[in-house]
Amino acid sequence: MPVPPHHGRLQWIDVPPPMRARLEDALGAPVTAALTPHGGFGHQLAATLHLADGRRVFVKAAGDEGPLTAANVHEAAVLDTLPPGAPAPDLLGIHHAAGWTAVVIAHLDGPHPDLSPRSRDAEQTWALLDQLTSSPAPAPYAAAVRTTPSTAAALHGWDELLADPPADLPPTARAHLPQLAEQEAAWPTLAAGDRIVHGDLRADNMVHDRTRGVTFVDWAHATTGPACIDAASLAPQLILAGHAPEVVARLLRDHPATATNPVATTAFLTALTGHWHLNARKTAPPGAPGLRAYQHRAAAAGLALLNHRLD
Ligand SMILES: Nc1ncnc2c1ncn2[C@@H]1O[C@H](COP(=O)(O)OP(=O)(O)OP(=O)(O)O)[C@@H](O)[C@H]1O
Ligand SMILES: [Mg+2]
Repeated sequence: MPVPPHHGRLQWIDVPPPMRARLEDALGAPVTAALTPHGGFGHQLAATLHLADGRRVFVKAAGDEGPLTAANVHEAAVLDTLPPGAPAPDLLGIHHAAGWTAVVIAHLDGPHPDLSPRSRDAEQTWALLDQLTSSPAPAPYAAAVRTTPSTAAALHGWDELLADPPADLPPTARAHLPQLAEQEAAWPTLAAGDRIVHGDLRADNMVHDRTRGVTFVDWAHATTGPACIDAASLAPQLILAGHAPEVVARLLRDHPATATNPVATTAFLTALTGHWHLNARKTAPPGAPGLRAYQHRAAAAGLALLNHRLD
């Protein structure tokens, strides 16, 4: 059984041979190359398989003893029940062998979107979010996500930071710690809702496919909730991509998904930012290089937005 690598992801060659054989059999052609796309912090196999007949598929695979298989199976159920036209790739299959599970997904061809102000990808992403959340989640999707607790609803951090404030906490956060902890504490009761929530919207969880345009991937945290969750998640990502915090703060104030639900938006953004501030200061987990550095940057972006929403 391969252990998580300290740098980067498991490779195709690390997958037990019976699972590789099972996949080649199911796909109907030998794998001629397996390329690991750039992006994400996970250590499981997440690779584009090139097949001898010229097709390409995307595969995520992990051993069943860890938590990743459950997340991949959840993602497969989500992909299988999203409404037609949703900005997501199709599920092609799930396979089990040698104590591993592999989820095969239609391959998207392109880079991560460019969320910077010079690109139109951010605009397209907002439009996709509007489309995704304009009506309640279909019943099969709601049923598929019901069995997995929402990671969005469980986000927190300021409670622990208030109890034991780190010396390097930014002055704005330190000055507002009780208010931040209070807003965060309100979040779980506001997290209920009937809309589709991707739950982990970052540029590296999207692909700008050459024919489909921006498409959301990595639906492992998908759930139901208020429409403001994904819109408010996207906001700090735009700051990380170079948008001015005051411009993004205005977008959040005016965008339908967040403007109609300002209390939940602030509570969610507070909980997400608290999660980043708390976790950025923890020891790095194995197999996730770059995660803590990202969380530090995201924590600063989240706080820059909250500055516009705090008393
Ligand atoms: N269907 C797809 N077609 C092509 N590339 C994809 C597809 N799905 C994901 N990718 C690429 O693979 C990378 C890893 O996939 P994904 O984010 O689903 O894996 P993960 O292990 O759950 O990620 P994380 O590290 O965020 O937990 C993405 O950042 C993206 O670049
Ligand atoms: Mg990812």
